[in-house]
Amino acid sequence: MSGKDTRHFKTREVRAGVKPDPVTGAILTPIYQTTTYVQESVDKYLAKGYSYSRSGNPTVTALEARITALEGGVGSLCFATGMAATSCTIMALVGSGQHAILSDVVYGGTHRVATKVLNRWGLECSFVDTSNPANVEKAIRENTRLIFTETPANPTLKLTDIAAISEVARAHGIPHVVDNTFLTPFYQRPLELGADITLHSTTKFMEGHNITVGGSITAANKDHIEQIMFVRNCLGSNMTPMVAFYTLQGIKTMSTRLEAQSANALKVARFLETHPNVDRVAYPGLESFAQKELADRQASGHGSMLWFEVHGGVQSGKKLMDNLKLWSLAENLGSVESLVTHSVTMTHADMPREERMAAGITDGLVRLSTGLESAEDLIDDLKQALDGL
Ligand SMILES: Cc1ncc(COP(=O)(O)O)c(C=O)c1O
Repeated sequence: MSGKDTRHFKTREVRAGVKPDPVTGAILTPIYQTTTYVQESVDKYLAKGYSYSRSGNPTVTALEARITALEGGVGSLCFATGMAATSCTIMALVGSGQHAILSDVVYGGTHRVATKVLNRWGLECSFVDTSNPANVEKAIRENTRLIFTETPANPTLKLTDIAAISEVARAHGIPHVVDNTFLTPFYQRPLELGADITLHSTTKFMEGHNITVGGSITAANKDHIEQIMFVRNCLGSNMTPMVAFYTLQGIKTMSTRLEAQSANALKVARFLETHPNVDRVAYPGLESFAQKELADRQASGHGSMLWFEVHGGVQSGKKLMDNLKLWSLAENLGSVESLVTHSVTMTHADMPREERMAAGITDGLVRLSTGLESAEDLIDDLKQALDGL
């Protein structure tokens, strides 16, 4: 298809980026499991677009085209993991002696790479409460080269107003990158709200079946694609064709899964609100959610992530997780299997306690990623685990 793909989201999700294989007619883009590509002659080097699979691979290209058709923008790049996407993006945009602003609540790995790896190369990162645009404006310095937000944030679900931060960023000529992993382009499209780059751990809702780890970025302008592609190639952080193949299949049902998983999440959240052993529940679809107005304004759905605090603190939280039989105690999220995570000991273990507490990642926070199982079974399991405390 030439030009912008104007078909509906659910059509693009299944069809964009893939044509029947020109040799066999296979309906799925094959796994081009190859290191290199034979060139017809020196003069025709790169005539077919590929030279070596660290730089590019046709199965990965098909996934990149599909993600672009869903997020908007001019192009996408896929990576070995979400962290590779994050690291390459930061390294491409910020150099030694320069400064980046990151949301104070981000995935623990993003905080870790900024404070334990990139700092060693002279990149300075400030963690700012980006839920208030005035804080971002205040944190901008003469050498600030990046504003990186995550919304909803892992694990507290704190929201950042994408349009408002993009406006601040644009006024200062600083790119705004949004980690859109929790909602996917089905529910939230940061580029349409003014962001420059949107980023995913495709490990989560995009692939959705706990099979692969991967990452992606989609950019609104070609220069960013070229800068980030250069770093990806130098570091060898590319996605493999096998992972791209699985992700191309998973993404076909992304919106259908999200609708069903979000409906389950709302039922689970409503149940938790009524249980006497639960102190607090946060889900953007609940009336009680602190940033409900923003949740409804910038996204068309609320997703399948929620968290709660059990009465009795950490010990009760641990007992609850031991009591669960259907929910799996595991680090991933966004999959068809429902997962429970204790963020403090698992996903955010490397974050200093004072910083964690200040960001609202409390010791007793239990994070749920609601899957596709029957909501009744998921609630029954939570009920027996909570009743048994
Ligand atoms: C919001 C968010 N961004 C990025 C990542 C990193 O992705 P990956 O685990 O695929 O490297 C994660 C992982 O949990 C995440 O939750």
